Amino acid sequence: MRTHYCAELSSQSVGEEITVCGWVHRRRDHGGVIFLDIRDRSGILQVVYDPDTKESFAAADRVRNEFVLRCRGRVRPRPEGTINPGMATGEIEVLGLELEVLNESETPAFQLDEHSEAGEDVRLRYRYLDLRRPEMQDKLQLRAKTASYVRKYLDAAGYLDIETPTLTRATPEGARDYLVPSRTHPGEFFALPQSPQVFKQLLMMSGFDRYYQVARCYRDEDLRADRQPEFTQIDIEASFVEPDDIMGLIETMLQGIWRDLLNVELGQFPRLTYAQAMQRYGSDKPDLRNPLELVDIADLLKDVEFKVFAGPANDAKGRVVALRAPGGAKLSRKMIDDYEKFISRYGAKGLAYIKVNDLAAGADGLQSPILKFLPEDAVAAVLERVGAETGDVVFFGAGKAKVVNDSIGALRVELGRDLGLTKAGFAACWVVDWPMFEEGKDGRMDALHHPFTKPIGEPDEITRDPGNILAQAYDVVVNGYELGGGSLRIHRQEVQRAVFDVLQLGQEADVKFGFLLDALKYGCPPHGGIALGLDRLIMLLAGADSIRDVIAFPKTQSASCLLTNAPSPVDEQQLRDLNIRLRERG
Ligand code: AMO
Ligand code: AMP
Repeated sequence: MRTHYCAELSSQSVGEEITVCGWVHRRRDHGGVIFLDIRDRSGILQVVYDPDTKESFAAADRVRNEFVLRCRGRVRPRPEGTINPGMATGEIEVLGLELEVLNESETPAFQLDEHSEAGEDVRLRYRYLDLRRPEMQDKLQLRAKTASYVRKYLDAAGYLDIETPTLTRATPEGARDYLVPSRTHPGEFFALPQSPQVFKQLLMMSGFDRYYQVARCYRDEDLRADRQPEFTQIDIEASFVEPDDIMGLIETMLQGIWRDLLNVELGQFPRLTYAQAMQRYGSDKPDLRNPLELVDIADLLKDVEFKVFAGPANDAKGRVVALRAPGGAKLSRKMIDDYEKFISRYGAKGLAYIKVNDLAAGADGLQSPILKFLPEDAVAAVLERVGAETGDVVFFGAGKAKVVNDSIGALRVELGRDLGLTKAGFAACWVVDWPMFEEGKDGRMDALHHPFTKPIGEPDEITRDPGNILAQAYDVVVNGYELGGGSLRIHRQEVQRAVFDVLQLGQEADVKFGFLLDALKYGCPPHGGIALGLDRLIMLLAGADSIRDVIAFPKTQSASCLLTNAPSPVDEQQLRDLNIRLRERG
């Protein structure tokens, strides 16, 4: 039907007769001449109809936004002064010779060129219209290009694309499962996979050596801007590898993606241990574009009378830190109160601070509600350790280490942004040497990654002192987002058992993972891998605020689809077939 995509035309095409098909993005009537901006997936082209072509002109006069047209015309340069450098086709226009209306459109629920006024609910309800917007077209095209890059890269590296089931057993990645009732086995359920973890390990045991899959995963968890109930992983596994092999593979791939798609050099990714990341940034996914760092000061405050500091300073599970924010002395009382409120969400009991109005003036140059509680030499020692300068504010966090890390880590992110200290661009890093377990809410141990991660230690050491066992795990972090996580896996049955024991799975281990424990007995190769969140990757590349913006048909914060109205009730017969009776909702 057409000879070109709209944005394929340029000044090189001047004089050519062409045909394009697309939507009316905008229609303007300029004193007897009608300008139509025709939009297709490549971009926008201006087509001009004048009264010389009587029939087409009349047709152009009748079209409205979002009508679907086929336009034939001749490419010509735009007249002096009307060149639009902001547009790919801004040097040319097409003189319309013919116009065919392929379909009409009702007035859309929102203007496609001024989307900002439309709320997300409306955009999601009419997603097919929202996706017509050039910026959404760009994002999904970027997504396709990235997925294609990944496939080509992994194909070339000898990785085999193998599919794994999505009707399966529960896979433990820390979220709730989405369940699917079985009709043929009354009362029994499949789970949708939280990840292909167990299957990719079984593929290594089957000798495939290198596997990848662009895999859909399902997790019923609290949603945030970077989480969807249904999302896509670039899932990778390889046999006979060390962590460096996987990290090298991924680092080179990400460097290539940034170079190819954004023309940005990511450089070598620094490596931090989990302990360092927590110590310096209070986070296991630090944004290294932000220069602020937490500084430990417990040793300076052990003997002060101020219990808020002295208590945690003398507690093995406590932590006392200072966070110096250059230029922060100008923060108003109200802003500091707001920060205090903000970190109380993380359990912080308060937010002490010292404003350094004039460093040379000693105590007189400081402004703070806690000076009266602290000896002058302790204050001086703290200011020296953090390198305070005139114009800074120094914040303090004291309490349980976890609360201090969570709250001051989050404050660091806010301050970096609010004070304009966090640089633009990209910063990637690896976080390595993770603890294998963490203490769960009920005092039981949870796996920090998943129970198949390889701990450093023999079974007896693992069961004796699980809290101090590290894992051969690595996360890749970009701009403060956990982009991917992986590890070497347990390949010896007795180690897997020890981990299940620490997790107190008991009988459950055999019921749920008997097949894996069995498989480990038949010559399992050492293996490891990683999974990257494709949605998060695209979000970062596109500079989007939410992964919803890089998924064609995403779900809302409450995990529903406004377009199709899923989830939805089903009829009685369908439930009966599945042997399900709904409980009265009280
Ligand atoms: P993990 O649980 O860390 O590891 O997931 C890997 C990556 O998947 C992305 N991700 C998500 N993206 C969007 N919405 C979600 N709800 C969501 N949950 C996770 C993140 C994350 O880094 N099987 C292991 C990987 C392995 O060990 O090889 C796993 O799934 O970017
Ligand atoms: P209080 O004695 O509780 O009134 O606290 C005095 C100052 O210390 C106030 O500025 C509080 O915001 C701050 N503060 C209280 N608890 C903490 C804490 N755990 N960490 C940091 N600052 C705190």
